[in-house]
Amino acid sequence: MADASEQAGKLEMKGISISFPGVHALKNVDFAAKAGRAHALIGANGAGKSTLMKVLSGAYDHYMGEIRMDGAIADIRNPRSAKDQGIQIVYQEVDTALIPNLSVAENIMLEHTVRGMKGRHLVRWKEMHAAAQSVMDRLNVSIPTRKLVQELTLAEKQMVLIARSVSMQCRYLVLDEPTAPLSSSETEVLFRLVRLLKSEGVGIIFISHRLPELYEICDDITIMRDGMLVVSDKLANLSQEQVIEHMLGAKLEGQFPSRVGRIGDIAFEAIDIHDAGKVDHVSLSVRSGEIVGIAGLVGAGKTELCRALFGASDTASGELRLGGKRIAAHNPHLAVRSGLALVPEERRREGVFVEESVGANLTAVSLSRYAAKGWGSWLSAARERIAADSVVQSLGIKTPNTKALVRNLSGGNQQKIAIGKWLLADAEVYLFDEPTKGVDVGAKRDIYELVAELAARGKCILYASSELSEMMGITDRMYVMYDGAIVRELATADTNEEEIMLYSTGGLRT
Ligand SMILES: Nc1ncnc2c1ncn2[C@@H]1O[C@H](COP(=O)(O)OP(=O)(O)OP(=O)(O)O)[C@@H](O)[C@H]1O
Ligand SMILES: [Mg+2]
Repeated sequence: MADASEQAGKLEMKGISISFPGVHALKNVDFAAKAGRAHALIGANGAGKSTLMKVLSGAYDHYMGEIRMDGAIADIRNPRSAKDQGIQIVYQEVDTALIPNLSVAENIMLEHTVRGMKGRHLVRWKEMHAAAQSVMDRLNVSIPTRKLVQELTLAEKQMVLIARSVSMQCRYLVLDEPTAPLSSSETEVLFRLVRLLKSEGVGIIFISHRLPELYEICDDITIMRDGMLVVSDKLANLSQEQVIEHMLGAKLEGQFPSRVGRIGDIAFEAIDIHDAGKVDHVSLSVRSGEIVGIAGLVGAGKTELCRALFGASDTASGELRLGGKRIAAHNPHLAVRSGLALVPEERRREGVFVEESVGANLTAVSLSRYAAKGWGSWLSAARERIAADSVVQSLGIKTPNTKALVRNLSGGNQQKIAIGKWLLADAEVYLFDEPTKGVDVGAKRDIYELVAELAARGKCILYASSELSEMMGITDRMYVMYDGAIVRELATADTNEEEIMLYSTGGLRT
């Protein structure tokens, strides 16, 4: 046994294995993190990153292997014992961890009030808001503590969860894809906080699919593939290319697909779309077979525009035309009937039915195509399964079969389901809102290919993203949004990332 000083400030997981029906999710995984250091945990969608961290945070009691803190065995089998060890986790699915109709302060101080009450059903509101405020101050974020969580953006919800974690005893903080919904300035705020916590001796475990940012804050890295440990090392010893190679088990060839097919005439037009305070008199058009980007920073109004186009906002006005004819899209149901499809940003809330099966989700928007027309319903069920299988194949969705519940898939694979269901829907206009958030580099390529294939089939594509490389890599043309309005139209071949950034930040407004 090594002496105590060597063991202090060390968290170790040894030989961790866990299975779920049909899935051997973790196979004998070793993992170690240290106080005061940030450790990147990397791997493709479904590799087992979230599951490993759920084991650490006491979400499961049926795993094999052991967890040690400072050298001593810590029998973590429930969330309470993990928290008692100072292990805090901010889950990938932020919505599931918050109570939407309670205030920011109540959500931050949730555990304290629940634990502190002990029969005393008295909450000192003033104190609670003050305590929540001081946590926010420490994090350098300004969200009014009296605001209801349901009114927050995804980025703000994330901040509330981090605030809750650091308000408690926190020796190790696990952040599962914290930056996926954040803008670059919000990411900077988070990174400042990570550095602060590190300097206070907190160990950070950081899961992200954005590889470049790992190099900004992480000291160590562990790479997983197919439920197994591949490499554990100091991050400085590995290049980005090497990280990708380890996680995919192969080299990544050309990120963006080459395009085939012809761009036709203007097919889809949106005229004077307005949604007070969110979308500012936007008009745009898309040709058949054309991929048109909606560029802009997080918060520029891209999501609001997509929702307005799709009839998902009650307060939006304006006119839509498809093939020269006015179409009705006052609500999502009508929009789908009119040939529109939206792959939304907040997939868990809007994109998928997590309590339903993979198959049911994939065929949900195209049911009429499989409904038996006088034939036995078993036939339509069989057709449905074949269709669902084909999407699982083409997007490489990691699931034991199409009967598995979407809730049990990894975050990135849920995203692929949200996209995949529209492939069977056969729409004319596809609205993609940040479709590659939270998917690994290999799956990103699958999604780009799919978008390109839809365009090659003559569909109209609107592609909203804050990633400049995607704007340059996949679009033919783009509109840049700033503060709810389109400030510039750019032909992709004639622009560059710097120019897009200039207009995205409100520069040279015309
Ligand atoms: N409760 C569960 N029931 C069944 N299968 C599960 C469960 N939890 C995880 N899995 C499976 O375990 C595997 C690993 O999932 P996990 O969520 O850990 O992946 P991940 O590395 O976090 O991926 P992502 O980058 O997409 O978030 C997946 O195949 C997933 O479907
Ligand atoms: Mg995950």
